Amino acid sequence: MRLRPPVPSDYPTLYSWFSNPEIVAPYDRFLSESYDGFVRSMAVPDNDPTSLAPRFVVERSGAPGPVGVVGHFSPHPVLETVEVWYIIGDPAVRGQGLGREAVQLLTDHLFRSTSVERVGATCDVENTPSSRLVEGLGFRREGTLQGAFYHHARWHDVHLYGVTREEWSRRAAPT
Ligand SMILES: CC(C)(COP(=O)(O)OP(=O)(O)OC[C@H]1O[C@@H](n2cnc3c(N)ncnc32)[C@H](O)[C@@H]1OP(=O)(O)O)[C@@H](O)C(=O)NCCC(=O)NCCS
Repeated sequence: MRLRPPVPSDYPTLYSWFSNPEIVAPYDRFLSESYDGFVRSMAVPDNDPTSLAPRFVVERSGAPGPVGVVGHFSPHPVLETVEVWYIIGDPAVRGQGLGREAVQLLTDHLFRSTSVERVGATCDVENTPSSRLVEGLGFRREGTLQGAFYHHARWHDVHLYGVTREEWSRRAAPT
């Protein structure tokens, strides 16, 4: 597997995922926008730490073409922390370890290319695949935010996960 920056020829596939409520629902807000609006949103500069634009396309070895996207953003105006997000866009290839491998590569990349001390993730408490994905990578559940996320006409609780640089390097070290 590899992560690579999105290119314009990926946009129709990525848009088909973002414009399909079945792909992001039922654990996320669904914001439908036009294709032109989506393309404009992809133009956000890489150096904007708050951007929610996809940072990397997930591609399987020997099978070119996107199967997912991952991103990261800085969720807090003061705290120096970064949060990852991830989507395996084709439901047919979910449950095969691709999501976990993609988040592993992204977390490696963030610890290698930035000085952040902690990488975080937030998961709707009902989003079992997402929680299990990060737990399997060694992210610790640090707490649960009550009523932190509004989607599908109600407030949802959200688990907060994090892994420190030291924990990640211990995890990656050969035994
Ligand atoms: C969350 C998501 C990325 C997982 O991708 P994936 O490639 O299916 O995940 P993996 O195959 O790496 O599996 C990760 C863990 O989730 C579990 N899992 C996967 N699908 C599951 C399901 N439908 N129900 C319960 N657990 C599931 C796997 O068993 C694995 O846990 P385990 O090793 O403890 O058994 C994918 O479901 C998705 O894109 N969902 C929509 C977007 C989303 O919710 N993103 C997360 C919010 S940022």
